[in-house]
Amino acid sequence: MTALLEVDNLRVAYGKIEAVKGISFTVEAGEVVTLIGTNGAGKTTTLRTLSGLLTPTTGTIRFNGHPITGTPAHHIVALGLAHSPEGRHIFPRLTITENLQLGAFLRKDTTGITHDIHRAYELFPILGERAKQPAGTLSGGEQQMLAMGRALMSRPKLLMLDEPSMGLSPIMMRKIMDTIAELKASGTTILLVEQNAQAALSLADRGHVMEIGKIVLSGTGTDLLHDESVRKAYLGED
Ligand SMILES: Nc1ncnc2c1ncn2[C@@H]1O[C@H](COP(=O)(O)OP(=O)(O)O)[C@@H](O)[C@H]1O
Ligand SMILES: [Mg+2]
Repeated sequence: MTALLEVDNLRVAYGKIEAVKGISFTVEAGEVVTLIGTNGAGKTTTLRTLSGLLTPTTGTIRFNGHPITGTPAHHIVALGLAHSPEGRHIFPRLTITENLQLGAFLRKDTTGITHDIHRAYELFPILGERAKQPAGTLSGGEQQMLAMGRALMSRPKLLMLDEPSMGLSPIMMRKIMDTIAELKASGTTILLVEQNAQAALSLADRGHVMEIGKIVLSGTGTDLLHDESVRKAYLGED
C-alpha cells in the first residue's frame, strides 16, 4: 500500500542557507505522525514546502498518489492537504464565521459548507458562541481553535498542524491536544509539528525527531516517549 504522503530526500534552502537537509518520511491514511525538535530544526520549513509555499531544491513529495513537488499551493489544498500555520494567521477583523468560510474558498457546495461550519462549532463550542464577533477578540487558544477549524473547512485528507500549543496556558494546551485526539479518533490523518514533545508523542502513532534540518531519530510515539535521548533532550530530564 502506498502512503497518503510520501516525502523523499527533501531539501529546502533560503538562499544559501539550507534549512531542510534531505529528509524522508511517510504518513499513512488514518495516522497521526509528529515532527518534534527544537526551534530552528526545520519543521515549519518542511510544512510550508509540503503546502507549496516554498519550493524544494531537490526531493519529491507525493500526496494521495500525485507528485506535488512544485505544485501551486491552492492546487495542493484542492488535492486535500490543509495547513494550520504556525502563529495561526487568522483574519482579526473578519468574523469567526467569515474566517471559517475562507477555509472553504475552493468549495462550491453551499449546503456542505454550512454543515461543516456547524461541525466546527460542535468541535469548538466557543466559536459558535462568538460566531459574529471579529476573530481578533478571541484569546490565543481560541484563535488556535479557529485556525484548526478553518483548515478543516477544506475537508482535508491530511491536516497539518504547526505548533498548535504554542504560547497557550496549560489548560488551553490540554484542550487543543484533546481536540487533536478527538480528530484522530474520528479518522482524521494528521501531521503534527510540536515543541511540546510529551504531548505530541503521547498521541502520535509515529514520530520523527528533527535536528538542524535532518531527521535524527524515528519511531512509534511510545518508543520515542521512552527513548532516553529524547527524554533528555526534549522532555527536560537528566
Ligand atoms: N524566511 C526565512 N529566511 C531565512 N531563513 C529562514 C527563514 N525561515 C526560517 N529560516 C531558517 O531556517 C531554519 C529552520 O527554521 P524553521 O523551519 O522555522 O524551524 P522550526 O519550525 O523547526 O523552528 C532556521 O535556521 C531558520 O532561522
Ligand atoms: Mg516552526
